[in-house]
Amino acid sequence: MIELRELTMSHTIALQRIYSGVSVRYIERQELTFGEAMAVVANAPAHVRAVPRDRWAFGIAVDDDLIGMVRLQCRTERHASISYILREDSWGRGYATQAVAGMLHHAFTATGVTSVGARHHPDNTASARVLQKNKFTYRGTRDGWPVYGIHKPNSSSP
Ligand SMILES: CC(C)(COP(=O)(O)OP(=O)(O)OC[C@H]1O[C@@H](n2cnc3c(N)ncnc32)[C@H](O)[C@@H]1OP(=O)(O)O)[C@@H](O)C(=O)NCCC(=O)NCCS
Repeated sequence: MIELRELTMSHTIALQRIYSGVSVRYIERQELTFGEAMAVVANAPAHVRAVPRDRWAFGIAVDDDLIGMVRLQCRTERHASISYILREDSWGRGYATQAVAGMLHHAFTATGVTSVGARHHPDNTASARVLQKNKFTYRGTRDGWPVYGIHKPNSSSP
């Protein structure tokens, strides 16, 4: 069972471990340096205080071990994109599926967001599965990357 947590400075080393090795293979960034990981956690309180808040970056914790990150970033007032990454040694246990479900619940109950989009590298079959298991609808490809969307339950589609 996972918990989603706001990031604090105590998560710096864990974050650097998450963004390393094969975990960054299919995402559009390199491994995090320690300095970059520090900058991510140092900026977290400013995002929490922002009014209106337009991004959420939750650590994914299992028994107090920070094993991943799930992010939600508003693209418009009502639409946001989701992304996620897990440390390699925690893959295959359903944690990403749970984290995405948790972030969707947060998006649709605690923010004004009514639709969420996602995309993944064309070879990233595990990520596709995580989206399918969370009932995202496949919408086609953009720049060769499969794109998906999901609407808030009972909200009217644009
Ligand atoms: C993609 C990622 C988040 C999945 O995390 P995870 O915790 O292992 O995901 P889950 O255990 O919740 O579910 C993974 C699903 O993919 C399936 N899967 C895993 N590897 C697979 C593969 N190579 N081919 C097909 N399916 C695969 C699993 O069987 C599981 O589906 P199932 O429950 O139907 O069996 C993780 O691999 C990761 O962090 N990768 C690096 C970063 C990344 O790619 N992020 C996504 C960017 S879009």
